[in-house]
Amino acid sequence: MNNNQLSIPSTLVNLSELIKITRINKGRHYQSLYILEFSNSVKCVLKVKNVAESGSLLREAERLEWAHKTIPTPKVIGYQVENGKEYLVMTYIAGCTAEDYQQKEGQKSLGYLLGEGLRTIHNVPINHCEFTDLLPDKLIDMVKMNIKERESEARVAINNIFPNHTMEQLIDFLEKNKAPADELVFTHGDYGSGNVMINDGRIEAFIDLGDSGISDPYYDIYYLFKSLTYYTDRKEEFGKFLKGYGISELNESRMKFHLIIDTLLL
Ligand SMILES: Nc1ncnc2c1ncn2[C@@H]1O[C@H](COP(=O)(O)OP(=O)(O)OP(=O)(O)O)[C@@H](O)[C@H]1O
Ligand SMILES: [Mg+2]
Repeated sequence: MNNNQLSIPSTLVNLSELIKITRINKGRHYQSLYILEFSNSVKCVLKVKNVAESGSLLREAERLEWAHKTIPTPKVIGYQVENGKEYLVMTYIAGCTAEDYQQKEGQKSLGYLLGEGLRTIHNVPINHCEFTDLLPDKLIDMVKMNIKERESEARVAINNIFPNHTMEQLIDFLEKNKAPADELVFTHGDYGSGNVMINDGRIEAFIDLGDSGISDPYYDIYYLFKSLTYYTDRKEEFGKFLKGYGISELNESRMKFHLIIDTLLL
């Protein structure tokens, strides 16, 4: 989808005041993002995806609206479906992603900021949270379903990552090492350095909350580790992350739990 093909529903934003559309050259292949600039100097971000593609911007809009009450996130301006496309408009967040953050003198390190940020998210009260797709039991169920429906792919994945384990041993590990209910928190669901916006040395907002909900804190800790080691080359920041988050030692069983889940979600 390029700018020429972009048609924004007229009920979503005031098109007569829209003066500039800039494509953001990031984001998953199945969705496009744009910065919209209006004549009153207000800027917004528009996400567009085909309804038929996987994922849902409604999901993201609902979670953003919920989370925005307690933590810094973009504010939802509008959501609409038109001509087979989903449109989500939200406020523009100033700054850069944590991935592009360049620490200046007197500012906190990337890892420490990400740790403090994740602590803020995990402190969100969950008593009125209805987003429960990522509960440990549901993650285990998804893995079991994959093993049933895509057994040969699951076997290849296990041979690559856990060559000395059987499928049964891994499932047994999951059952025995899942986080208990009293450890569950509000999780971001995709806590990588590309999903945290930093401005002037401080976290400005958390973005991309489409998979947020109640889960084990290690859901995010595992993914952040992967973000700093596999998706980017910032392993040295992980120790600082743990300091900012406020733990001295990793729970290795919980990390292994999520490595198994990640491997077998395929
Ligand atoms: N509200 C916003 N304000 C400013 N920039 C934004 C905003 N939302 C998204 N962006 C920019 O667009 C990029 C992609 O957005 P987002 O992470 O929500 O989409 P995505 O398709 O899930 O991307 P990815 O797969 O890279 O995580 C962000 O990394 C950020 O640079
Ligand atoms: Mg993202």
